[in-house]
Amino acid sequence: MTKDTDANKTLFAQAEDILKTNSRHNSYTVPSDRLYPYQWNWDSGFIALGLSTIDLERAVLEVETLLEGQWKNGMVPHIVFHEYEEDYAPGPLDWQVPEELTHKSICTSGITQPPIIGSVLYRLYQRSDKSDAYELRFKALYRQIKDYHDWFMAKRTKAPDHDLVKSLHPWESGMDNSPSWDSLIKTVPAENLAQFRRKDLKGDNDEERPHDTDYTAYMSLVYHYKRIGYDAPDLLPQAHFRVFDLVLNSALLRSARDMAVLAANLGLDHGTYWQGQIDTLSAGIAKLWSAEDGAFLHMNARTGELLAPVTNASFLPLYAGAATQAQAGSLAQTYKEWREICPYGVPTTDPRADVFEMKRYWRGPIWINTNWMIAEGFAAYGYEDIAAEIKADSLALIAKHGFYEYFTPDGAKGLGAPRFSWSAALALYWLNDA
Ligand code: GLC
Repeated sequence: MTKDTDANKTLFAQAEDILKTNSRHNSYTVPSDRLYPYQWNWDSGFIALGLSTIDLERAVLEVETLLEGQWKNGMVPHIVFHEYEEDYAPGPLDWQVPEELTHKSICTSGITQPPIIGSVLYRLYQRSDKSDAYELRFKALYRQIKDYHDWFMAKRTKAPDHDLVKSLHPWESGMDNSPSWDSLIKTVPAENLAQFRRKDLKGDNDEERPHDTDYTAYMSLVYHYKRIGYDAPDLLPQAHFRVFDLVLNSALLRSARDMAVLAANLGLDHGTYWQGQIDTLSAGIAKLWSAEDGAFLHMNARTGELLAPVTNASFLPLYAGAATQAQAGSLAQTYKEWREICPYGVPTTDPRADVFEMKRYWRGPIWINTNWMIAEGFAAYGYEDIAAEIKADSLALIAKHGFYEYFTPDGAKGLGAPRFSWSAALALYWLNDA
């Protein structure tokens, strides 16, 4: 794959144009111009990766602007509401995060998202000229992200079971309506949602978006947590949704590995700190292996039960470096079986599972960001062929349909928001990576 063919030059130019259109005040990027008008946590990480290939300064600004929304306790929220937009729900008035929680009285959501930002920072650093001015900014960002890790370990794990962090909401995994959450969603007590209206349904996209029952659970969790206090000490024991989530834990482990190298590069003596997290999280993820399925699964943290089915999240311990070589072999086999059924990889759900749905959001469709993480993971375990195939499939879907938010695994359709930022950013990253 090279960016020098005419087709790739066109893709490259289109991707650059999308990131320009979706940029706000030249300091952060919305996921899509209309559907998602704020700054999202892991979106900005992927966006910064893409931006770093064309404009490192802008990429660093993307991360700095995201971290302006960081809470005093270290959490980086899943959405930062820089400017009020009527067309999106739930917005700042639904979340009502107390102002004193944030550093700069910026409105934010009250939960987090997969922490890929430390790994992104390390990649940005690698591309920088290491000038004094950049070193200073990277050191400041490094400290902020280290605080984020501290928050995860302090607030989302519980001694003596100190080995995995818990997610408290399907939105925290970034995979909102994954079938892995089905059994848990049913147990969330419904709140009075009379004040809330969905704004993501546009009349013709019902079969591509989460069901109302999912949304009722999402908002009931938000209202419940708002009542307890998003930062209250008893939030964790009272939370109705508690999962040892593969996405959060894999992203955090990979971030700890990358932050350790970054610390050494910046001359900071934090090796022991990072090694502790690496050991803890690696041991934790090892417990999520299902021998029966030959794959990693999320775990219900309230019951210790592994959550079927096998999904694209099952591959993410490869990205984290938490799988053994034998486990990687089993995951490669699973990938190949799926790819024989679907002409493009990697679907969000095992295409043989009853719950697989070709068009519905995180229940079947292909997403470019998770494809990027899975490809990175397979490459790290020596499966360069699979990594290349995932990258080629992703770029082929984009070339065929445009930079959509997600795609049907039969290759027939691009779905959700068009001109989606992380699809553009990761295409740039891949095209530059040639
Ligand atoms: C949806 C996705 C989530 C993403 C957000 C903004 O909620 O499920 O992963 O971060 O949109 O793009």
